[in-house]
Amino acid sequence: MKFFIKNSLLREEKTDCIVIGIFEFCEFTCANNCFNESVLSYINNFIKKGDIQGKIGQTLLLYNIPNIVSERILLVGCGKKDSLNRYDLSKIVEKSMRILNKFSIKNILFSLMEINIENCDIYWSIRTMVNAINKYFYKNFKINTSLEKDIYLYSISFHIMEKKYFHIANNALKHALAINSGITAAKKLGNLPPNICNPLYLFLQAQKLSEKYKGKIDVTSIDIKEMHDLGMNAYVAVGSGSKNKPYMSVIKYSGKNTIKQEKVIVLIGKGLTFDSGGISIKPSKNMNEMKYDMCGAAAVYGTLIVAAKLNLPLTIIGILAGCENMPGGNAFRPGDILTTMSGKTVEILNTDAEGRLVLCDVLTFIKRFSPDIVIDIATLTGACAVALGSHFSGLFSNDEKLAYDLEKSSQQTNDKIWRLPLSSEYEKELNSSFADFSNVGKGKAGAITAACFLSQFSKEYTWAHLDIAGTAWESGNNQGATGRPVELLSQFLLNESNFF
Ligand code: BES
Ligand code: MN
Ligand code: ZN
Repeated sequence: MKFFIKNSLLREEKTDCIVIGIFEFCEFTCANNCFNESVLSYINNFIKKGDIQGKIGQTLLLYNIPNIVSERILLVGCGKKDSLNRYDLSKIVEKSMRILNKFSIKNILFSLMEINIENCDIYWSIRTMVNAINKYFYKNFKINTSLEKDIYLYSISFHIMEKKYFHIANNALKHALAINSGITAAKKLGNLPPNICNPLYLFLQAQKLSEKYKGKIDVTSIDIKEMHDLGMNAYVAVGSGSKNKPYMSVIKYSGKNTIKQEKVIVLIGKGLTFDSGGISIKPSKNMNEMKYDMCGAAAVYGTLIVAAKLNLPLTIIGILAGCENMPGGNAFRPGDILTTMSGKTVEILNTDAEGRLVLCDVLTFIKRFSPDIVIDIATLTGACAVALGSHFSGLFSNDEKLAYDLEKSSQQTNDKIWRLPLSSEYEKELNSSFADFSNVGKGKAGAITAACFLSQFSKEYTWAHLDIAGTAWESGNNQGATGRPVELLSQFLLNESNFF
């Protein structure tokens, strides 16, 4: 499928369908300026008859329109004028796509750019529309089915009214397409079953990136032996119950950087390809969903694809912390005391609080890159999903500016995050009688104590933690990985690249 920006005369457009919005109480979004009387009266005819009222998402497909080249016009309801937001725009596009795809229409021209959307210029309109289209197509991705199977579409174009917006519109399109391929890659990886997607598989996927983006991406792995040698005993302990050995993938992206002092950004993804809970085994209900416990790693993988596609002028180290948490004769146990790579000791009270054990060693490991910014992304706690539900990811940070910058990226993209506190009161809840810390907190604020645990290992640099336990996948009938927070992270990197 190809995407284009167009600035031609609508009536002369040789396309299979032009999509035009109408508002409630029947006002065209643009047709007034672009079509002549006979077209308008033809369309008005259907409106007068009440075939379409303009409610958001209503559609009416028209054929044989006089005096235009396009074979069809799809009227789509846009609701009340001047009260539309980006969410509405997504819905409008999604509804249009459903009709267009149903009728196997091949070439489409969206002429919706004239709609006024709250806080949304042409750049963001296009980003939003491409996102909605991508979401529509990849919602029902299933393993072993080709993504393109049910797509009849050949081209989608966006019509802009003025030539001067051509550059910005094309930029938006470029960014949106790159980000969407990152989101899709993260979804595909996240949805894979745990018997296929194990820690080694994660590494092999990462390695493929270094072939595809030769010269930009370099991938190495740390296997269990090297972990031993490095003293990453907490990471190793989590993986010790599984036949699938842990692999940590280190993906280095080096963009062409004109700025002399280059910033190093480290992104760490929790990559538990299956989390059974280990000896503190989870209840069997919904345990299958713990295949998604690698969605942090999938998000890092997807975000690096975006960086490479857009040639961002940054240095980014992406870590996929691959591991599998299983019970077994070799598994670590409650009561064990582990010496982490940092030298600090941890008493295990629950083997199901494994993500923080893997991550704490990675947080120590990455000091070797002298990072300016470190962000870890993890399906870390059920408690975070309880606190924020499935709409906001949890944000924790030891740095006001980084927290602010991430919140800004979140607001720009609608990939929502909400900051929760890191405060010394919570640290006490991690006290242990036998070690520096225990691996679970005593109180109720499980998302915060988990983040506090991580903060003990990330004091030497600017750090943020994103708990995506509630946002990384959807349960129920439409279940599947969401690809979050690839869009948020990509936007953050775009902002860091001064592309805005
Ligand atoms: N991967 C889970 C967190 C999780 C659970 C995410 C359910 C999404 C849905 C994590 O490893 C875990 O098991 N955390 C425990 C921590 C507890 C033992 C302190 C939890 O949240 O119950
Ligand atoms: Mn767990
Ligand atoms: Zn887990």
